[in-house]
Amino acid sequence: MWIRCLFTSFTLGVALTLGADTLSGQDQLRVASPDRRNTITVETREGRLYYSLRRDDRAVILPSQLGFEFRGAPPLRDSLRVVGKTETKVDQTWTQPWGEVSRVRDQHNEARISISEAGTSGRRFIVVFRVFDDGAGFRYEFPEESGIGDFAITSELTEFALADDARSWWIPSFQPNRYEYLYRSSPVSTLDTVHTPLTLEFRDGLHVVIHEANLTDYAAMNLVGGREQNRTLRAYLAPYADGTKVLGRVPFVTPWRTIQVADRAADLAPSVLGLNLNPPSVLENTAWIEPMKYVGIWWGMHINTMTWHSGPLHGATTANTRRYIDFAAANGIGGVLVEGWNVGWDGNWMENADKFSFTQQYPDYDLGALAAYARQRGVQLIGHNETSMGIENYERQLEDAFALYKSLGIKAIKTGYVGDLTPEGHAHHGQYMVRHWKKVVETAARHGIMVNAHEPIKDTGERRTWPNMMTREGARGQEYNAWAGDGGNPPEHETILFFTRMLAGPMDFTPGVFDILIEQTNGTPRRPEQSRIRTTLAKQLALYVVLYSPLQMAADLPESYEGKPEFQFIRDVPVDWDTTRVLEGRIGDYVVVARRERGGDDWYVGAITDEEARTFDLPLSFLPAGRSFVAEVYADGPGAHWLTNPIPVTISRQNVTSTSRVRLELAPGGGQAIRIRPAR
Ligand code: NOJ
Repeated sequence: MWIRCLFTSFTLGVALTLGADTLSGQDQLRVASPDRRNTITVETREGRLYYSLRRDDRAVILPSQLGFEFRGAPPLRDSLRVVGKTETKVDQTWTQPWGEVSRVRDQHNEARISISEAGTSGRRFIVVFRVFDDGAGFRYEFPEESGIGDFAITSELTEFALADDARSWWIPSFQPNRYEYLYRSSPVSTLDTVHTPLTLEFRDGLHVVIHEANLTDYAAMNLVGGREQNRTLRAYLAPYADGTKVLGRVPFVTPWRTIQVADRAADLAPSVLGLNLNPPSVLENTAWIEPMKYVGIWWGMHINTMTWHSGPLHGATTANTRRYIDFAAANGIGGVLVEGWNVGWDGNWMENADKFSFTQQYPDYDLGALAAYARQRGVQLIGHNETSMGIENYERQLEDAFALYKSLGIKAIKTGYVGDLTPEGHAHHGQYMVRHWKKVVETAARHGIMVNAHEPIKDTGERRTWPNMMTREGARGQEYNAWAGDGGNPPEHETILFFTRMLAGPMDFTPGVFDILIEQTNGTPRRPEQSRIRTTLAKQLALYVVLYSPLQMAADLPESYEGKPEFQFIRDVPVDWDTTRVLEGRIGDYVVVARRERGGDDWYVGAITDEEARTFDLPLSFLPAGRSFVAEVYADGPGAHWLTNPIPVTISRQNVTSTSRVRLELAPGGGQAIRIRPAR
């Protein structure tokens, strides 16, 4: 495969340079969004460099410091002055190979601000701001002639001084379960150390999301605040074992720091700010990259009816896999994930970092024969590579493993990084792991393989550059309902995910468990008392529309779908969208989304609620005028309730047009899924 040479992201087709000047002595520089509503101001005060952000007449980010601390060199923070600025206007539209929307408009104004340090060392750098109608991004660039050379960053001094003690939805950083925590909400002044994306709701209703874009050779940014009861958040980078944050040499660019703004929650999604701040695809040919639904030898391990390890309950047997392949083929499902196929799972697999083989199968699993059988039935096997954080062990085998998969026609893998630190003590989200993740994605692209990463590096929009980087976990998925040690995911969980984690990118949440009470366990013991799904069945269907993933699982055991008319919705629902409209939404309460399939005329609606019952009178004005459609509705049935009566689903049909309204009645913890297809 030919991989286009990746340079930097500011090769902009229709860029218009407005002018360049030297602005030494001038205090403040401003750059506004194309609609003039968002304005970034850059200024120096007593030799320190600050930026701020306003939307209309209100402050969003108050003057906030920029700079770095290095090992073995003075901080890049003091005696700074602005020595130049160039401005560029960009307005271009590009097409995604797959996604929540097919066309993305990148319209922004850019200011490249050159900064010089006074005094003997006299180092130079550039801060680039891009201001869009939906927010702003900025990054630091250290050019070749910056006087910085090789460097070790010990601290990035970037601040986000919030103008309001906004309500924030957050998960804690540096905890053993990485991003897999329930979101909590509290005023920004109370925060300790949290992950991004961090979603904030100002008291006047403005919504702000702090995140980053194009994290490919740097450490993930966490936000530290609250300790002084103020509203200033500071960047805190995930470290190497020795405390260093980032190693590099000039020329070097940091990831973008992004501040998305929206007047209401529903306008936050689909979020394209981060995509626009990533370089275009480096893959010349993307035709082989195919979004698909998949089933898998997976849920059984989580509800203890199968094991990853060898023995009588081993899930990845040849016979069991053939059964899953047959099920996928019969139902138009593209892929079959098989976990536990490879040697290394015996004993406590979470401690098997150096024991996994990524090429050697268990004796009761015939990889070659199964790959051939899958091909013959028009289904793809999806490989699984759990590393337990044994990065060196995985990297040693990467080329051989991916070459083997390619030779067998395996075009997708799921990776796994269960563990907190690497065996060497590097942080899960530090530069060491970011570099590893990028190596996996690049190697996979060379072998024509799509990646679904669990325990991933957070999504910062790299799917634009590497469209084989399909989906990731990076939040609490469905599996927490199977383990349920801590009570599982509460009914509000997915209504928060939509406005937090999902703004970063697709998530492999693994929806579609029909056996809500997890009864199909053949009497196997060891299942925690509380394990069950905390939604209605109709909400499981709605999640296919609400939680976007280009590799989207039908997570339950095939036997749970047998004879269930609701399964038709999973057969029908697409995994690639042309258009997405968020019709209603409040963080932690409810979401109603409409999406049009890519390459077709069908629309789908997904509506979910928290533990409250809700009704919506939904205008179908998103449909094209003058055409007749049939709405196939999967609604919570009479008396449905996530806790007491989760199963009933009422399936109905009605003729609709763009002037129709549809009444959505969502049960407590419920949802509704609708396919709207042209009338025949
Ligand atoms: C955790 C992942 O989230 C889950 O999907 C996978 O089955 C296990 N790790 C084993 O890799």
